[in-house]
Amino acid sequence: MGFNIAIDGPAGAGKSTIAKKIASRLGYIYVDTGAMYRAMALYLLRENVPASDAAAISRKCREADISIGYEDGAQVVYLNGENVNGLIRTEEVGNMASASSPNPDVRKKLVELQQKLAAGADVVMDGRDIGTCVLPDAQVKVYLTADSGVRAMRRYKELTEKGVSCDLATIEKDIIERDRQDMTREISPLTQAEDAVLIDSSALTIDEVAEKIIALAGTK
Ligand code: DC
Repeated sequence: MGFNIAIDGPAGAGKSTIAKKIASRLGYIYVDTGAMYRAMALYLLRENVPASDAAAISRKCREADISIGYEDGAQVVYLNGENVNGLIRTEEVGNMASASSPNPDVRKKLVELQQKLAAGADVVMDGRDIGTCVLPDAQVKVYLTADSGVRAMRRYKELTEKGVSCDLATIEKDIIERDRQDMTREISPLTQAEDAVLIDSSALTIDEVAEKIIALAGTK
């Protein structure tokens, strides 16, 4: 196995920004597992599968071939051969990903793919169950969190900068609901692995968090 850094935590804690930064500093591959669940969700939405129909999700997820590749150093997610990077960052896809990711057939398929990626390379992988389920033997495990108010404000700024009008209170309400779904589901709920280091990013900059994790990797 390569050198594996696992970063888990709730939505909006800064996982992907920080994981990307660490990967580029260390020359590792960044694997965004949320993007894989989002690509699967996009497929289910396109096929008009209701979020509440577990049997249909189990059946339909077999038809979705999700793979990842790298273009100019950035991760690209392919859904049945189509680059869907530009289509998976919507609230609609995020909500469907949160609803469909508890499905055991969806998880089995994507976890296998994630384990294969980490077996052959040095990776920084972020998600919800990386330290607990996907890479239990990762050399570095981090549980990255932040206050829901801070996470909502970060998301609000990101959307406002893109010119999207939005409401801070609604964003925070959605974040709290997403956390609840991710933390209370039966299979692979979001929880801190026993051997993970807890980092609260509420009052830290991206660079400060990245430095802490790089320092942890240096001690292994
Ligand atoms: O990190 P994100 O918002 O892109 O993730 C989208 C959804 O996918 C999120 O609701 C939880 C789910 N997910 C998961 O169940 N397991 C992972 N390893 C990554 C994401």
